[in-house]
Amino acid sequence: MLSVQENEQLTQVGPGTPMGELMRRYWHPIAAAAELNERPTKSVRLLGEDLVLYKDKSGTLGLIERFCPHRRVDLSYGIPEEHGLRCMYHGWMMDETGQCIEQPFEETVHPDGRFKEKVKVAGYPVRELSGLIFAYLGPQPAPLLPRWEHLLWENAVRDIAITEIPCNWLQCQENSLDPVHVEWLHAYMGAYRNTDRIATQQRGSSRRHQRIGFDEFEFGIIKRRILEGKDETDDEWAEGHPVLFPNILLVGNEARATFQFRVPVDDTNTLHVSIYNYRAAPGASAPKQDVIPYRYVPLKDDEGRYIVDWTFNQDYMAWATQGPIAKRHLEMLGQSDVGIILFRKQLKRNIAVMEDGGDPMNVFRGDELGLLHAPVEKVKFGVRAQARYVRPEAGDTPAVPQIEEVMGTWVNYLGEEATLGR
Ligand code: FES
Ligand SMILES: [Fe+2]
Repeated sequence: MLSVQENEQLTQVGPGTPMGELMRRYWHPIAAAAELNERPTKSVRLLGEDLVLYKDKSGTLGLIERFCPHRRVDLSYGIPEEHGLRCMYHGWMMDETGQCIEQPFEETVHPDGRFKEKVKVAGYPVRELSGLIFAYLGPQPAPLLPRWEHLLWENAVRDIAITEIPCNWLQCQENSLDPVHVEWLHAYMGAYRNTDRIATQQRGSSRRHQRIGFDEFEFGIIKRRILEGKDETDDEWAEGHPVLFPNILLVGNEARATFQFRVPVDDTNTLHVSIYNYRAAPGASAPKQDVIPYRYVPLKDDEGRYIVDWTFNQDYMAWATQGPIAKRHLEMLGQSDVGIILFRKQLKRNIAVMEDGGDPMNVFRGDELGLLHAPVEKVKFGVRAQARYVRPEAGDTPAVPQIEEVMGTWVNYLGEEATLGR
């Protein structure tokens, strides 16, 4: 349990708050790059700040304050020009730094005036990587954008699923330090609902947990589990799953790896960005993707109830129903929660490092960053590789044929047994 004050410290993300400042030390995904191909402006709320993301005609990405400095209209309705975003109301134009660079009527009346030089809104750096657009809202100089090996796999197919979840980021991330929920929320509740697709999807994860363990490592925490009938030689204990500080889960193996970013929108909303990476087996080629597809995942059904027929939707339901901000002063933690306790300590320790002027964990600086390798499980014969796409959350992806093609290369590589379920 946390005190009310401790809970506020870990959940408030606005400017000037301890967690808000910690989160401002990291790059966060805010959109799929393909979104801007369809519409070149997107309203974005990140860490409690209202912003607009745009791509101008020269291809430059900008992330600036959402409301026009003139008379405050919403620039997500603005017009991207060759260099900058023009306000649709009176034509003022801002560049990607937030600097006003044109004021048509002012310049007509005062050709030598310098008014526009005094007008500047917030402008933040953005970068594209693996089909996602990342933003950094913290102090300059910005750290390097992390180059996680599995996110940068070449010869791979990717798929992006984004979900807007109406709760604080911390309850999403704490779920990743909670192995026991898999047995209940996914397997047991799946069996209770007894639908074919759930039975197929969650086969293999229904064994009881015997032991869980957590180790801090270079990039965060490794979580481990021993299920009934297994021992310490099982990958789930021996290798474990990396939770990347402060808000990322990496799950997968050498063939497929998923990153889940729990991006704080504000104190009571989270943008959940999943990117699935499917790599071709050695010696094989992945189909080429001109554009990495993305989709927004539905949360509720026609009756306004949370959808719980898919694994990740079950998680989203659990997180959101803990409330906009979970009341941690009322919780009663047990042995299943030791990973959560460790994670909260890690957060507090890194806030202290930052407040002392240091760089917290996973802030990378220097001239150049090599690939960051976080450990994942090995592909195992007849156990891990799946050539058939199993939907992880509600909604359809157009990438299914490509995913099945690239996963099929592992069947050829590993042998037919690789298709026999998980
Ligand atoms: S409100 Fe944007 S130019 Fe006037
Ligand atoms: Fe889960």
